[in-house]
Amino acid sequence: MVLMGRQLMVMMLMVLMLMVTLSAVWWDFGSEKTAGEFRQTQLLTTGVKTDVINPHPYRFTTAGQDVCEHAGSDVFLVIIVHTAHAHVTHRQAIRATWGNDSNIPGLKIKTLFALGTTDDKTLQHAVERENTKHGDIIQENFHDSYKNLTLKTVMTLKSFLSFCPKAAFLMKTDDDTYVNVRNLVKTLRKLEGKPRLVTGFVIKGAEPRRDVNSKWYLSPRTYPKHTLPWYVAGGTGYVISSDLVPRLYETSLRTAAVPLEDVYIGMCLEKLGITPVQNKQFHCCDKLTYDPCVYKNLMTSHGITVDEMYTIWEGEQAVINNCGIYHGWIVPAINYLLYT
Ligand SMILES: *[C@@H]1O[C@H](CO)[C@@H](O)[C@H](O)[C@H]1NC(C)=O
Ligand SMILES: *[C@@H]1O[C@H](CO)[C@@H](O)[C@H](O)[C@H]1NC(C)=O
Repeated sequence: MVLMGRQLMVMMLMVLMLMVTLSAVWWDFGSEKTAGEFRQTQLLTTGVKTDVINPHPYRFTTAGQDVCEHAGSDVFLVIIVHTAHAHVTHRQAIRATWGNDSNIPGLKIKTLFALGTTDDKTLQHAVERENTKHGDIIQENFHDSYKNLTLKTVMTLKSFLSFCPKAAFLMKTDDDTYVNVRNLVKTLRKLEGKPRLVTGFVIKGAEPRRDVNSKWYLSPRTYPKHTLPWYVAGGTGYVISSDLVPRLYETSLRTAAVPLEDVYIGMCLEKLGITPVQNKQFHCCDKLTYDPCVYKNLMTSHGITVDEMYTIWEGEQAVINNCGIYHGWIVPAINYLLYT
């Protein structure tokens, strides 16, 4: 009888130990899975908890937990492309041309596409299938719309922090932008390690558009000041150094949103006392007619159609020996002097 009781106790103890072990493993697994969400609360505990006026409560739905191994410590550049659900051919063109991550041998670059949600179930399922194939789409559960692009930019910062925080640089761009990754990498290699860096085409001292029909309308209520902060043009794209991303994200939580994502980033930079670095190789703000000799010296160009994406890429691959003295030598020399 006594022996039976003792055996029972030993067995119960063993079962208890097994349960404790299992729950610890499960807990660990759970925290691993939600590392992205955990980050947000972690950032919030760094002293800004009280003055959060622009919380970003959205969750990743199609998450790229495994887009970067080792938190991206071996990744040089993460390019997050703002896209729309229906822009399948844009994404395909980018993957096949400048966004192919094996373009620069020996250098790890991750190109990802950012989306919110749509009510269109067919489109959503198509996006999920696309992501199963390519694994490069990140989605958050806010309604995807032009007016919500600022949310997408905050999501871009959060994605970097959640999935690849140890990568050296983050770039934000659009799906109708051509990125000359070779030129970009050449420039960024010289800037690596420079703290608090934001670079792109800087728009200085512009005035807010008060015409309600303007695409860039800002109401005096959302933006009372008469001049905009210096900001980097969003469509053509801009680059942020890794160390600045958590500070920008944190500042966004304390800064009321305006519907223009690039102006918004400018407002956050102003709060942080950071001046963006001008680089006119990010072409803004008109559409630049395609000429292989001109594009040879660019970093980005905006307003590009799907067909042009392929044309420019082919032009970039062809060795251009006949660009003349001006585009072949003088422009690269000026660029070298100005931007390096
Ligand atoms: C990317 O480039 C690699 C190597 O050149 C190629 O095998 C692959 O098919 C390309 N990916 C796409 C989506 O075109
Ligand atoms: C922006 O997203 C939020 C969250 O999904 C939604 O409530 C809001 O209506 C959206 N705004 C616009 C203008 O689409």
